Amino acid sequence: MANKVTFPENFLWGAATASYQIEGAWDKHGKGESTWDRFTHTPGKIRNNDTGDVAADHYRLWKKDIGLMKKIGLQAYRFSIAWPRVLPAGRGKVNQKGLDFYNKLVDALLKAEITPFVTLNHWDIPQKLEEAGGWAARSMTEAFVEYTDVITRALGDRVRNWITHNEPAVVAWMGYGMGIHAPGLNDYSLGVRAAHHLLLSHGQAVPVIRSNSPTAEVGITLNIAWNVAASNSRADRDAVRSNDGEWFRWFADPVYGRGYPSDKIDDFKKMGALPNGLDFVQPGDMDVIATPTDFMGLNYYSRHIIRTNGTDNDPQIVFSQPRTPEHWTEMGWESYPDGLLGVLGRVYFDYQPLKLYITENGASYSTSPDEKGDVHDEHRTNYLRAHFVAMHRAIQAGVPLAGYFLWSLIDNFEWSHGYAQRFGLVWVDYETQKRILKDSAKWYKRVIRKNGF
Ligand code: FCB
Repeated sequence: MANKVTFPENFLWGAATASYQIEGAWDKHGKGESTWDRFTHTPGKIRNNDTGDVAADHYRLWKKDIGLMKKIGLQAYRFSIAWPRVLPAGRGKVNQKGLDFYNKLVDALLKAEITPFVTLNHWDIPQKLEEAGGWAARSMTEAFVEYTDVITRALGDRVRNWITHNEPAVVAWMGYGMGIHAPGLNDYSLGVRAAHHLLLSHGQAVPVIRSNSPTAEVGITLNIAWNVAASNSRADRDAVRSNDGEWFRWFADPVYGRGYPSDKIDDFKKMGALPNGLDFVQPGDMDVIATPTDFMGLNYYSRHIIRTNGTDNDPQIVFSQPRTPEHWTEMGWESYPDGLLGVLGRVYFDYQPLKLYITENGASYSTSPDEKGDVHDEHRTNYLRAHFVAMHRAIQAGVPLAGYFLWSLIDNFEWSHGYAQRFGLVWVDYETQKRILKDSAKWYKRVIRKNGF
C-alpha cells in the first residue's frame, strides 16, 4: 500500500538525548562537577532526590546505545557534550579522557551512518564557572567561546551540525529566575542577565564553529509552545503576549536581528527585573547576537491554555481536551498536534529561518514491560503519528523543515522530575540497565524505512 504521508527525500529522522540525562559517570575519568551534579546532590531539589550520578549509564553503555540506534534505523542523533567532562574547571586544562569519549562516539556514529548533531550546552555547565557567577556573569561568554573552540577543533572535521544552546529560556527563567533548575537561583534580574549572556555567547560562538568546522551548519534550539488565551478577555490575551514574549520572542527576536522586544522590556521593568535598565547590553552586543545562522531548532511538546485571574475575564471557558491519557501525557502536557503545525507556520512566517529542525518532540508515558517483556506504549505511538501528520502539513504548506529529532532515544533523568517521567523509545530498567525497544520504536523504525506511513 502506498504511503498516505510521504516526507521529502532528504528529510532527516533522528532522536535526541542530553549528556546529564543519560551519561551518568558524574565523577569518572577526571570529569569536573557540573551545576546539575551540585543541584541534584542538594536534598529537596529533585523529586525523590533522584540524581544523574548513574542515569542510563550511557558513558559505559554507549556502544550498546549506538546498536539500538542502528536497530531503529536512525539517520541522525542529537546529543550534547558535558562541558565539565572535557574542561573540568570550565576553562584551561583539557581532560583528554573526556574528549576521547566524544571522539569515539562520533567515530562510531559515522561508522553506523548516523549523522551526529552536537549540542554544546544542554545545561550541565561546570560548577566552577557557576561560582564565578555562571550565565549571570559576562565572563561566562568568554568561557563558552573557549569551550566551543576546544570542542569544534577536536570534532569539527567530522561533525557538521552544531547547536550552541538548548532552550536558553529554560536556563535563564527556570534556573536563575525561579530556582526550579540548576543553579537554583530565584531572581529575575539575574535571569535577564543570564539570557543576555547565553544569547551573546551563541553569537560569539558561531564564527568560531565555522572556522574550525568549515562545512558546518550552526543553529540554536528554542523551546516553543502553542499558546492560546482561555478567553477573549483583554487580560487573557495580554497574558499570552507576555508569556510568548518571555519564553520565545525574548530569544528569537535578538537572534533574528530585532533586539529585545519592547513590550517585554516594559514588563520586566514593571516586575523589577531590570533595576538598572539594560545596563548589561554593551555596544555591538545585539549585532553579535544576530550573527546569521543556518537553521533554527525548535522543541515543541504541547499547547498552553493561558488564563489570568484578572477581573475583566469572567466567565472563563476552559476548552482543553478531556483529561485522558490519549490527550494528556504523564508530564501533564496536553497532546496537541495542531500546535506543531501552528508553531512551524508562525515561526517561518515571523522570522524566515533558512531551515528548521524539530530538535525535540515526544511524550512521557510510563508504560512498562508486560510478562513477555514487551512495552505496548500505543499512547506514545499515537502522539507521534499525529505530530508527524502535522509536520507533513507544515512541509506541504512550504515550511522548510529539514528533520525531526524524537525526544528521547532512551528513558532518562527528567530534570526536576527525576526518573518519574519516561520519554524514551527504549525502556531502561534502572536496576539492571537493561534496554528494551518499546512498540513505538518499532513503529518509528517503519516510518523511517518508508519515509512516511
Ligand atoms: C526539554 C528539554 C529536554 C527534555 C524535555 C522533556 O525542555 O530540553 O532535556 O527534558 O524537555
